[in-house]
Amino acid sequence: MSETKSYYGRHIFFCLNDRKNGEDSCAHHNAQDGFDRCKAQVKAAGLAGPGKVRVNKAGCLDRCAAGPVAVVYPEAVWYTYVDANDIDEIVESHLKNGQVVERLLTPPHLGR
Ligand code: FES
Repeated sequence: MSETKSYYGRHIFFCLNDRKNGEDSCAHHNAQDGFDRCKAQVKAAGLAGPGKVRVNKAGCLDRCAAGPVAVVYPEAVWYTYVDANDIDEIVESHLKNGQVVERLLTPPHLGR
């Protein structure tokens, strides 16, 4: 059997969904700033690229009640972040060193 190797070592998806109908969504909680910060920090740390880390935009991930959220694969770890310090910690601890940031974990019961 052939072994498949993941193109990226880790992949983080940020929900950037912006609802215009009055309902809440991650874009109303500075999700774009979080995404931009993560992208810049990953690049600055030399973590971006094949075999390393990819930072991607996503639409609604259906966990809006916990927003703004981001999810890291392959571990499938969900984060709820607030500010740039939170993003920096996710980059340094998880994306760089594989250590989950427990204090930012999305509460497991929160969905849409
Ligand atoms: S709006 Fe972000 S998870 Fe639904």
